[in-house]
Amino acid sequence: MSASQDCRRYLVDIDSNSTPQLFTDCLVIGGGIAGLRAAIEAAQKCSVILLCKDSLENSNTWKAQGGIASVLTGEDNFESHIEDTLNAGCGINDLNIVDMVIRQGPELIKQLLDWGTEFDIENNHIATTFEGGHRYSRVAHAHGDETGKIIAQTLIEKVKQNNNIKIIENFYTIDLLTNSDNKCVGVVGQNSRSRQIIWAPNTILATGGAGRLYRETTNPEVATGDGIAMAWRAGAVLTDLEFMQFHPTTLYVAGASRALITEALRGEGAVLVDCKGKAFMPDYHPDAELAPRDIVSRAILSQMLKTKSTHVFLDVRKFEKEHFAKRFPTISELCRSFDIDTTKDLIPVRPSAHYMVGGVETDTNAATSVTSLYACGEIAATGLHGANRLGSNSLLEGLVFGKIAGNNAAEDIKKITSYTKRTNIEYHITPSDRTRLDTEDVTNSLRALMWRNVGITRSKKPLTEAQEIITFWHRYVMDKVFDSRTGWQCQNMLTDALLMAQAAEKRRESRGVHFRSDYPLKNDQKFKKHILISR
Ligand code: FUM
Repeated sequence: MSASQDCRRYLVDIDSNSTPQLFTDCLVIGGGIAGLRAAIEAAQKCSVILLCKDSLENSNTWKAQGGIASVLTGEDNFESHIEDTLNAGCGINDLNIVDMVIRQGPELIKQLLDWGTEFDIENNHIATTFEGGHRYSRVAHAHGDETGKIIAQTLIEKVKQNNNIKIIENFYTIDLLTNSDNKCVGVVGQNSRSRQIIWAPNTILATGGAGRLYRETTNPEVATGDGIAMAWRAGAVLTDLEFMQFHPTTLYVAGASRALITEALRGEGAVLVDCKGKAFMPDYHPDAELAPRDIVSRAILSQMLKTKSTHVFLDVRKFEKEHFAKRFPTISELCRSFDIDTTKDLIPVRPSAHYMVGGVETDTNAATSVTSLYACGEIAATGLHGANRLGSNSLLEGLVFGKIAGNNAAEDIKKITSYTKRTNIEYHITPSDRTRLDTEDVTNSLRALMWRNVGITRSKKPLTEAQEIITFWHRYVMDKVFDSRTGWQCQNMLTDALLMAQAAEKRRESRGVHFRSDYPLKNDQKFKKHILISR
């Protein structure tokens, strides 16, 4: 059974006549860098509603540590950044997009600086650092390792000051609404009190990633891939879902929630050692700690297996204490809270799910295959990353494509001379009677299954088994009509998981972050292409 056979168009009953309604010119779903930047751009020309699943402070952007990559120093150049991005992407990046995003970087970062973002400054210039796969020091950071938070604060401030933007936090978007011409006309969702419909001639999806599909992840609780599932139900073309990037270094303290340990540490000299104290990365790649993320993640797993250990360590003991606390305040505080003295102790780490490289397919205008639906940020598959994202290229992509999506959505409004603000939509579902369904249990089991069977190393048998088990869960979860976000979230996660496992099975080769132990080599003849999925 495939996901397309057992999922209905909408998760809930919809009756547009009896549901409270709002109207706006441009609807933005998501409060990370891409959604915020899109809202700011669109609001120059039209009214905007910005929806956020939780608070604006709860996003992957807010948690981003390392920084934002761009050509910011005299020794660096666009060609090198383009080449590094293409090398990481393993042959399936879209060259036009790579070129366009990278060339816009410096200007948009300068704009952030002008808007008040407190990037770290050295000798009157934005300070930069190294990360894996970048041949030059080009990762800008702010307040040390608080880059995402500091950028988000700037954008949130700008959004709040803009009278054209109405912010609605704690709004769970359940589904995109489409009319009979397959045009997106708004959303149905749940605000903190009741069901609500928001009509908009243009909608921008910026809902972020899906790291929470995995038991081990750097992502916050909100990153459950809702946008992917709702775009799929609305008929959007999805692509590259097999490419889930695993970050090599997540704090591993049994019982503690997983937290990112930024790659910038390795960029500035931290060394990975195994439980016997051996620095093992030179055995795996000439660039050692600065090899691409997929290689470092697999090397760590292999070393864990060799040493029969649950984790490896990051050695940061050589960093001078005051410098470390200033340059990496988040990591310092995190380690302190677990009694890890970074001048004496090693930091226990292991890889975890970090970034969804694929997503909703978009073109150069950030448009999806559904009319009037745009996508930007982690949910969008723009073609920038190919099969593997270069560290710190994602904030850059969010900034560039947020601006493009906001501008194009607002320009579209001008073209519409008259439009019906509301469409009558009625959709009724016969409810099932599964009163004893425990969605938390299903969600936890799903996350464990994805980690085990659709994780860093894949092969046919576990991928097939994952699809069978998820399909079984689909049978009794997908026909229920929930009235809570945990229920809808569970349905969305099950939808995403099946699509990801299917895509991972289809790609019978290894490329970028997708590693198949049964097909360990790249197969350009058959697979130098994208795997597209639509309903
Ligand atoms: O390691 C990091 O700070 C992560 C950066 C990124 O994912 O771009």
